[in-house]
Amino acid sequence: MPKKVTKAIFPVAGMGTRFLPATKSVPKEIMTLVDRPLIQYAIDEARAAGIKEFIFVTSRGKGALEDYFDLAPQLEQELRKKKKTELLKILKSTNMESGAIAYIRQHKALGLGHAVWCARRLIGNEPFAVILPDDVIAADKPCLQQMVEAYAETGGNMVAAMEVEPERASSYGMLDICEENGQLVKVKGMVEKPKAEDAPSNLAVIGRYILSPSVLQHLNQIKTGSGGEIQLTDAIARDIDAKNNVFGFRFSGQRFDCGSKSGFLQATVSFGLSRAELKDDLRAYLRSINLDDDA
Ligand code: UTP
Repeated sequence: MPKKVTKAIFPVAGMGTRFLPATKSVPKEIMTLVDRPLIQYAIDEARAAGIKEFIFVTSRGKGALEDYFDLAPQLEQELRKKKKTELLKILKSTNMESGAIAYIRQHKALGLGHAVWCARRLIGNEPFAVILPDDVIAADKPCLQQMVEAYAETGGNMVAAMEVEPERASSYGMLDICEENGQLVKVKGMVEKPKAEDAPSNLAVIGRYILSPSVLQHLNQIKTGSGGEIQLTDAIARDIDAKNNVFGFRFSGQRFDCGSKSGFLQATVSFGLSRAELKDDLRAYLRSINLDDDA
């Protein structure tokens, strides 16, 4: 049986240029979907999957992230005084156990692979999860939990996979598949951001991974790849060559690309409509603007 996955890396050192000027002073991961920052959705998903240690790979200007996970004694005191018990409960649900969070600096934005490598000493010789908070996945059972359950059977390395249109292949790492078995696919290769005609399948890698520590060793040796960055997919692909143990997992759920403006807006509407206290107003508004008129 594979070792239990209890550590997760959250790479949040990217510059978030697609959200400028907002990201000039607000980290992308603090931007809110309805009333919760993206990072809170990621943490809740990790907790549901049994993660106990949360490792953030951050960069300059991300202080608001650290503050977010700090206690807020003054605010709590005020809420208690005013007997706002519901708000107090919400506030407390964001508290993290002392020692459960670690922050590592990525000094230069050299890519996702490099960000993960920066956390190598905290991972040691254990399997670990990677969660990209700007991929938000709405699902009955949280995506990482689905993956951890599948991983208990397979071990090795596992990446979340989703079908995309061929013209979108150039935005993703794409899987080359050799076997399919329900939600699981066995992977024989991975190509980072191929042209539509070069994509080996229509299955794209989405921002959830369970990786073995050998991937960190491959990252030690990798030089920059596609886009001048150190790619995580290149390191995972090396583990296919070495051990043939990489799986794609077709998760159940809807993924929103909250790293893009359009994806963020879609997620906002969808999460808004799923909230009992908001959905009637929001639906009424969407009906009132007669979307067909603007085509
Ligand atoms: P993105 O490709 O979305 O990059 O990174 P970005 O910089 O955040 O956003 P744009 O493209 O400039 O708008 C995917 C994930 O990898 C992390 C990001 O923080 C994000 O969670 N990342 C990326 C790093 O931590 N370090 C890097 O060097 C690059």
